Amino acid sequence: MGAKILFVKESLVKEVPIGADFQRIHALYPELPLRFGCRNGECGVCILFIEKGMENLTKRTPDEVKTFARKGFPVNCRLACQCAINGDIIVGIFPPSQISSESSPNSPESPSSS
Ligand code: FES
Repeated sequence: MGAKILFVKESLVKEVPIGADFQRIHALYPELPLRFGCRNGECGVCILFIEKGMENLTKRTPDEVKTFARKGFPVNCRLACQCAINGDIIVGIFPPSQISSESSPNSPESPSSS
């Protein structure tokens, strides 16, 4: 038995191995809407809006904490390259009020372009 991830925007549910990090999940299920850039917590490309189940993700890494402070990302988000999943989560759609002028989390290819 694994953990379920629901991607709200895509109406997609996938059961993944408990304890898997998102880079492994992406390798196992490339059809999932996960994107990566630096893969070390610095660029912010992999940001996910966690609608439910934040407690089911591993703790923030120091690199993730620094990037959130630098980019002003909302606290209910996580960097996929910096966490693993220990239970069910829902990846939601960014509320417009949480998209800052510096970042564009729904367009992760260009989080710092504007
Ligand atoms: S891929 Fe760059 S912060 Fe996650």
